[in-house]
Amino acid sequence: RSVGIGRAHAKAILLGEHAVVYGTPALALPIPQLTVTASAGWSSGAGDAQGDLSFTMTGSASRAVVTQASDGLRRLAAAFRARMGVPGRPHLDVILDGAIPPGRGLGSSAANSRAIVLALADLFGRDLSEQTAFDLVQTAENVTHGRASGVDAVTVGASAPLLFHEGRSQELSVGCEGLFIIADSGTAGSTREAVELLREGFGREAAAQGRFLRRAAQLVGEAQQALAEGDPGALGERMSDYHRLLAAAGLSTSRIDTMVEAALGAGSLGAKITGGGLGGCVLALTQPERARQVAGQLHEAGAVQTWVVPLRRLADHA
Ligand code: MEV
Repeated sequence: RSVGIGRAHAKAILLGEHAVVYGTPALALPIPQLTVTASAGWSSGAGDAQGDLSFTMTGSASRAVVTQASDGLRRLAAAFRARMGVPGRPHLDVILDGAIPPGRGLGSSAANSRAIVLALADLFGRDLSEQTAFDLVQTAENVTHGRASGVDAVTVGASAPLLFHEGRSQELSVGCEGLFIIADSGTAGSTREAVELLREGFGREAAAQGRFLRRAAQLVGEAQQALAEGDPGALGERMSDYHRLLAAAGLSTSRIDTMVEAALGAGSLGAKITGGGLGGCVLALTQPERARQVAGQLHEAGAVQTWVVPLRRLADHA
């Protein structure tokens, strides 16, 4: 084959981010309408001599990610070559084309990595198990984020909402109606910095870690139940509570807080920062009849773009 193609999509964390790095469960949503496609082909140029496989990245949303994640992608290429038994040091061009904005907590780095892994497997005609694809994406994620739980690596390839716990995932039962609105604050946050910030805080005050993780696990458990039992009001409340938990740990920003307040003021059932934090996106849950007001107020409060993800559509994939 002369070109290999791979695809992946964005993700949002419904509840449990950061605590999941310490082993508590998280609830995660695939975002099927935000995708990235990788095309891998033989390079005509000299490529990047530092890599086992070489990357030349182009594509609409990719440039910023690539600068930030190039170490991770190099490691991923080396791991792919070693694990899949690719001889020599082939020079490849990988073109990433997608619309997942980087640094917004939407899993762009994991999605790019997964799309590349699948494209390489396609190019070299290798069968990849889900476990191997996950392991390879995690190799890059651990370099890019310092320490990654694996929730992003799983969710960017998932077709239904997931419960992720200690490396394992299962599809969530969804009995709720409702719409998620994802609102981009327009500012990027570094997951690596956010994970490090929390780790330093826990290092200074040991009791804070236990308090944070207990509260996180409690909210995740209650949200999982609300989701299964079809109680969007209770689910929304847990989302707002989780936002307060993350904000108290210093992981929100004033613009994100303003957006969360705006969503709630417009009748949203619950709203929170999502993903790594220190910027990025707000995830708001709303009944369909309030969606226009909620999205409008989020834009008023500074959102640069919004996406709507119906819970029912996600659940129907399951
Ligand atoms: C990022 O989507 C979620 C974090 O918990 C990091 C991780 O789980 O690897 C912040």
